[in-house]
Amino acid sequence: MSRAALKGMLMGSVLMLTAPLPVAAQQEPLSPLPLDNSVDNQGKKLDPRKVALGDKLFHDPRLSKDNTISCASCHNLATNGADASDRPLSFGVGGAKGVVNSPTVFNSRYNFRQFWDGRAANLVEQVVGPIHNPIEMATNWPEVIAKLNKDSALVAQFQAIYPDGVQGKNIQDAIAAYEMTLTTPNARIDKWLRGDKGALSADELKGYQLFKSYGCIACHQGANVGGNMYQIFGVMNGYFAARGNLTEADNGRFNVTKNPADKHMFKVPSLRNAAVTPPYFHDGTAQTLEQAVDVMFRFQLGRTAPPEEKALIIKFLHTLTGEYKGKPLEN
Ligand code: HEC
Ligand code: HEC
Repeated sequence: MSRAALKGMLMGSVLMLTAPLPVAAQQEPLSPLPLDNSVDNQGKKLDPRKVALGDKLFHDPRLSKDNTISCASCHNLATNGADASDRPLSFGVGGAKGVVNSPTVFNSRYNFRQFWDGRAANLVEQVVGPIHNPIEMATNWPEVIAKLNKDSALVAQFQAIYPDGVQGKNIQDAIAAYEMTLTTPNARIDKWLRGDKGALSADELKGYQLFKSYGCIACHQGANVGGNMYQIFGVMNGYFAARGNLTEADNGRFNVTKNPADKHMFKVPSLRNAAVTPPYFHDGTAQTLEQAVDVMFRFQLGRTAPPEEKALIIKFLHTLTGEYKGKPLEN
C-alpha cells in the first residue's frame, strides 16, 4: 500500500470501522496462535533431537568470541525472550552497546521476516547475524566450529542428526528448530477468538473494539498482531524529527534496500506479550505501554484519544500475553 493510501485509510478508519459492518464482513482481523508447536510453518513435524540440540546451542556461550555471551543473554526466556526491562539496548561481547532494542524470540516464527528492518528472511538465516555481529557475539563459523569440535559429546549429538557433523548450517538449522517451539499460545484473546466469549472482560472487549476502530489494526493484525508488513515509523507525523539524535538504525529498511521510500520503514512488531516485554520501539525509548500507545496515536494515527479510551486499549493489550509450556508469562 502506498503511504498516501495508508494515510487516507487511517484518517477514514474511525468513521469506516464504527459504521456497522455487514454480517459477512464480521470476520476478526486477528487469529489465534496454533496450540501445537511441534510442527514447523509448513506443517512438517519438528525433529525433537534438533529441538534439543538447538536448545543447548541457544544457551551456549561458546557461540561468542570470548565465551561470555549466548543467544539467551539477550533473549532470556526468564525475561520473556527479550532483554531485561532496564535494558533499552543490548550488550554484546566486551560490553559493546547495541543499536536497537532486542525483540522477544517468542513467536518470532510467525513474523514474515526477521529483524526490525526485515534483513533476514527466516529464522535459519537470522542465526548468522548475531554470531558475526561485532557488537553481539563477535565471532565467525571457523572459530565456533573449532571450539565445538573439542566437545566430543556434543559432536556425537550433531553426528546423530547431521552426517557432516558440526557445521554452521547445522547450527542454524538446530537453533531455528528450537525457536519454532518458542511460542506462547492460549492468550485470553486466543480463547476469545476460539469462541470462549467469557475470556475477555467488558472493558477488554471495548479496548479491542477501539483498537480496531482507531485503526491500530491496519498495521497490527493477523496471528501475531503484527509481524506481517513494513510501515513507516512516523507515517502521520515526523517521529524522528521530534525525537532527535538520528542514528543509522533509524533508517530501518532503507539500510537493506537503499530505496529512499524505505527510510524509517520498520517491520510492524508483534504486540503479543508486549505487556511483559518493555521497553518499546526499535530505539527502546518508551518505558511503558502508556508511553508507547501515546506515541502510536501521535505519530501513526496523527490524532489524540481520551485517556479512558487509551486505558481500555492497554487493557486489551494485556489480553495478548500468552502461555509458554502451559504457564502464563509474567512481568
Ligand atoms: C547482544 C545481544 C544479542 C545476542 C547475543 C543475540 N541477539 Fe537476537 N537480537 C538482538 C537484537 C538487538 C535484535 C534486533 C536486531 C535488529 O533488528 O536489527 C535481535 C533480533 C533477533 C531475532 C529477530 C526477532 C524479530 O522479531 O525480528 C531473533 C529470532 C533472534 N534475535 C534470535 C537470536 C539467536 C538465535 C541468537 C544466538 C545465535 C541471538 N539472537 C543472539 C540481540 C541479541
Ligand atoms: C501505520 C501503522 C501503525 C499503526 C496505525 C499503529 N502502529 Fe503500533 N507500531 C507500528 C510500527 C511500525 C511500530 C514499530 C516502530 C519502531 O519501533 O520502529 C509500532 C510499535 C508499536 C508498539 C511497540 C511494540 C514493541 O514491541 O516495541 C506498540 C505497543 C504499538 N505499536 C501499539 C499500537 C497501538 C495501540 C496502535 C493504535 C493506537 C498502533 N500501534 C497503531 C505501526 C503502527
